[in-house]
Amino acid sequence: MKIGVLGTGAVGRAMAGALTALGHDIVLGTRDPQRTLARTAPDRRGQPSVAEWLKEHPAVRLATFSEAARHGEMVVNATSGDGTLDAVESAGEANLAGKVLLDIANPLDFSQGFPPSLSVCNTDSLAEQIQRAVPQARVVKSLNTVNTSVMVDPAAVGGGDHTIFVCGNDAEAKGTVVGLLRDIGWRDIIDLGDLSNARGTEMYLSIWVRLMSTLGTPKFNVKVVR
Ligand SMILES: NC(=O)c1ccc[n+]([C@@H]2O[C@H](COP(=O)([O-])OP(=O)(O)OC[C@H]3O[C@@H](n4cnc5c(N)ncnc54)[C@H](OP(=O)(O)O)[C@@H]3O)[C@@H](O)[C@H]2O)c1
Repeated sequence: MKIGVLGTGAVGRAMAGALTALGHDIVLGTRDPQRTLARTAPDRRGQPSVAEWLKEHPAVRLATFSEAARHGEMVVNATSGDGTLDAVESAGEANLAGKVLLDIANPLDFSQGFPPSLSVCNTDSLAEQIQRAVPQARVVKSLNTVNTSVMVDPAAVGGGDHTIFVCGNDAEAKGTVVGLLRDIGWRDIIDLGDLSNARGTEMYLSIWVRLMSTLGTPKFNVKVVR
């Protein structure tokens, strides 16, 4: 499938790499490809530059958010929470219309330091803000509750027997995302219902960041035992 991945950070790269390995045709979206390619230093997390990463992933093409969205039969949002609505606007409503938009972003607000708070919560969510911004897209929230290393390789922790959530208003779109999750290796997938349930999975980040501090690693997940 042709997939546009919006975002060049750890999540965008991990998803682009994993989806390429599964045989998908990926265009990675950024604000300004020339400016992104001109960055040579490792990013703030010590990741190699995007240019270095692309050398190791020659099948992935870097383009604008708009070109990446146009390319995709499906689009993945892996942009920072505070940049997501701008990124989606740049991607363009027409380029997202009718398409599955898998939203992995979290509305983390680091302005007061760590742990971050949420810039939207309780009665709204980033996923719902995206859905309102591009009503014709079919937004599905998933994968935002795990670190990238677990996201694309559930077996990396606990033998893979742990839980990932999906929610969204369009059953067929959720089915497409669930298929992709299964291809990646996810087995315990809980469909929470409509997109308002993203309020729950985004607010879960409040405990996720504290678990990360306590455990000293982002490589963990929860298992919902019924
Ligand atoms: N890191 C994880 O393990 C993890 C796990 C689950 C969910 N998430 C969520 O996934 C998202 C991506 O996280 P990340 O760690 O990969 O990277 P990130 O640093 O949060 O986001 C990087 C991307 O956001 C774009 N961006 C930043 N500000 C923007 C703005 N004002 N307008 C438009 N685009 C903007 C950047 O564009 P350029 O390419 O132009 O620089 C870049 O592509 C976040 O929402 C995060 O909370 C992260």
